[in-house]
Amino acid sequence: VMRRKLAAGNWKMNGTAAALPELQSLATSYPDASVDVLICPPATLLHRAAEAVKDTGITVGGQDCHAAESGAHTGDVSALMLVDAGASAVILGHSERREDHGEQNEDVCAKARSAMDAGLKAIICVGESLEQREAANTLDIIGGQMSGSIPDQSTGENLVVAYEPIWAIGTGKVPTLDEIGEVHDFIRARLERRFGEGVGRSVRLLYGGSVKPGNAAEIFAVSNVDGALVGGASLKAKDFSGIIDAL
Ligand code: G3H
Repeated sequence: VMRRKLAAGNWKMNGTAAALPELQSLATSYPDASVDVLICPPATLLHRAAEAVKDTGITVGGQDCHAAESGAHTGDVSALMLVDAGASAVILGHSERREDHGEQNEDVCAKARSAMDAGLKAIICVGESLEQREAANTLDIIGGQMSGSIPDQSTGENLVVAYEPIWAIGTGKVPTLDEIGEVHDFIRARLERRFGEGVGRSVRLLYGGSVKPGNAAEIFAVSNVDGALVGGASLKAKDFSGIIDAL
């Protein structure tokens, strides 16, 4: 199975209209890339970001969505609204959502169903804390997050899984390449067991956590790593294009 490489930038709660020219310059350097490039800006910028990268090789996505299509949910954004704003994907179950907003696996799963129903790719995040890794519970935790957060309707087209060890996010700490490979092989095997080889092998698996231009190439060379979910280094076009070049 040929899986297209994917570099996804998660701007988190960063970026105003002043960031758009930088995004445009990134977009013009990747007019017809052989890889997929996705930028997930804050919801307030999504529509303008979509306009800025229109007809380039870059697409945009959300960082979260509500499970319902519409209704009395003050401050929330639905999957249909993300589509309406120009999104092709949405990050779901990021550890910052799980921590800051108490999102449980079943919440993430409901959001993912809604996103997939709306035609979005769901980038579902899983990952262990440092405490869980030190207690040798990493694979159990990730297996549980996968069973609970990934919906039955998943396909190679609508699902991307991002492995983000919580202790590697924004810290400059990165697992060893063996540790990354162990988790990615485990995720691949679980997907194949649950969805069959065809679907299981076509889902893209991203690594996330302190990916920089300087370490991207060695991480992308690890088996079953199909790209990255990038936080800090996605905010600067120069850094992010360094990572895209390493794909
Ligand atoms: O979604 C992105 C991750 O949380 C990684 O963030 O690249 O700043 O470590 P980082």
